[in-house]
This record gives sequence, C-alpha cells and structure tokens, in this order.
Amino acid sequence: MQRFASSTRDVPPALAVPRHVAIIMDGNGRWAKKHLLPRFAGHRQGVRTVRTMVRCCLERGIEYLTLFAFSSENWRRPQDEVSLLMQLFVRVLKEEVRKLDRNGVRLRVIGDLTRFEPDLQALIDASEQRTAANSRLVLTIAANYGGRWDILQAVKRMQMEDPGRGDDWDEGDLTPHLAMSYAPEPDLFIRTGGEQRVSNFLLWQLAYSELYFTDVLWPEFDADAFDAALAWYRQRERRFGRTSEQLLGAPPAAPPATDQRADA
Ligand code: IPE
Ligand code: IPE
Ligand code: MG
Repeated sequence: MQRFASSTRDVPPALAVPRHVAIIMDGNGRWAKKHLLPRFAGHRQGVRTVRTMVRCCLERGIEYLTLFAFSSENWRRPQDEVSLLMQLFVRVLKEEVRKLDRNGVRLRVIGDLTRFEPDLQALIDASEQRTAANSRLVLTIAANYGGRWDILQAVKRMQMEDPGRGDDWDEGDLTPHLAMSYAPEPDLFIRTGGEQRVSNFLLWQLAYSELYFTDVLWPEFDADAFDAALAWYRQRERRFGRTSEQLLGAPPAAPPATDQRADA
C-alpha cells in the first residue's frame, strides 16, 4: 500500500491546490427551515451541492474529496429523520454511481458499516467495487463514522496483527489501520453552516489541516463559495511546527544585544 507523509513525522508538501479536501456538510436543516420546508427537503437539496463539489474537484485537479454524511452521533436524531436519511443514501448511491464511474471517480465509504441494513451494506460494497479501478478523484463518504471509533478500531487491529509485541508501538504502526489509510491527510477542512467544531470527524487526520469555517448553509454552498475557501487556503502559511523564517530560507533574526527601549 502507498504510504503518505504523516504531518507529525514528515513535512508534507504545501501545494497551491489542496490534494485532499474534507468537508462537514452542515446546515441542511436550517436551510429547510428558512424555506419553510421539512428538514428532509434540506437533505435532498444538499445532494445537489455534493454533485457540484464532485464536479469542482474534478475540474480543479483535487485528488481526494471526503464528505461527512452521517456521524456516529446522528443516530440520536428523531427516528423518521434517520430513516429518511438512510433511504436518501440508498437512492443517491443507486442513481449516481454510474455517473461517478463515467467520470473516473472512485467511491469509498468509511465508518462502522455493520450498523446499516444488509441491503445498504451490499449496495455500498457493489458501488465501491464498480468504481475500484478509477483514480481521477477519490470520493469518500463518511457514514456512521466517528473519529474516536476510527482511532480505536485502528488500535485494536494494530494490536491484533502482532499480539505479542507489548507496548512498543509508534505512529507508523497505527496509521495503516485507520479507515482512510489510502489517502493523504486532508490539506483543507471545510465546515459549512456556521458552527466552529469538528464534531468527531477525522480527529487523527486533521492534526495539521487548515480549518475553514463558513456561515453558508450546505445547500447554498456553490462553486464560488468553494473557490473562496480554496483562495483562503492558498494564503495560509503551512509551517508544520517550523518558523516563518525557516520557510523563507532566511536565518531567524537575532535578538537585540541590548535593551533598546528608550528610557522615558
Ligand atoms: C447536516 O445538516 C446533514 C447531516 C448531519 C446528515 P444538518 O441536518 O445537521 O442541518 P442543521 O445543522 O440542522 O441545519
Ligand atoms: C456533523 O453535523 C455531522 C455531519 C455533517 C454528518 P451535525 O449537525 O450532526 O453536528 P453537531 O451536532 O451540530 O455538532
Ligand atoms: Mg447540523
């Protein structure tokens, strides 16, 4: 398997266009409320934005797009909203996979899929297999995903692989077991809908991602809004622990030899 730079062990390349964009698609319910519609109408409208984002990533040469569709905590929502979301997931998978395939998009789904109905699990499996040879864009949908679940399942699998090893583990032993080990860490994280929190998304992988928050509600997030996020990203200085001077290749400025403050 391909190994990617780990932001805490290596310094990943800082490119003008992010390789990997991860998005918390938030604000569907509030969009629906604003339009006096049921919450579900907001989720349906949100699917349109997903299509727009896939197109944007293909056009801009972004290699990985990861979307948080359903968190491990979203089961706490009213039962009818949960079941409508599941139905929507099934419908969208059935309708969109052919188009994704035609466009060279590889679909992957991460999360604890065992909690889903067997039909949905089979559909996910078939969709992943159908697109497995594609490499223009990897579209990852996080469903029943939680960052803590991911870290724990990785720890368990790591220990299972070598049970007699004791406690001599390091980062490099763990990361191949994370759900997204096939992708570099996200360069850019976007959350729509105004909240400034991570809500148990990719906790491990966001260690050095640039975090962008916008008030725009997910159904209204469009190509211009995405480009604004990309423009903001380009302005960031990704230091990965170093100083600005190091990045510019200049030696750090020496501190003044004496206290030069003028006495009053
Ligand atoms: C995000 O929109 C979609 C899911 C979590 C499935 P929300 O449904 O959280 O929308 P708001 O936050 O209530 O507006
Ligand atoms: C995060 O949104 C999860 C998804 C977008 C799938 P939520 O709307 O569930 O997050 P909180 O509850 O406001 O943190
Ligand atoms: Mg929300």
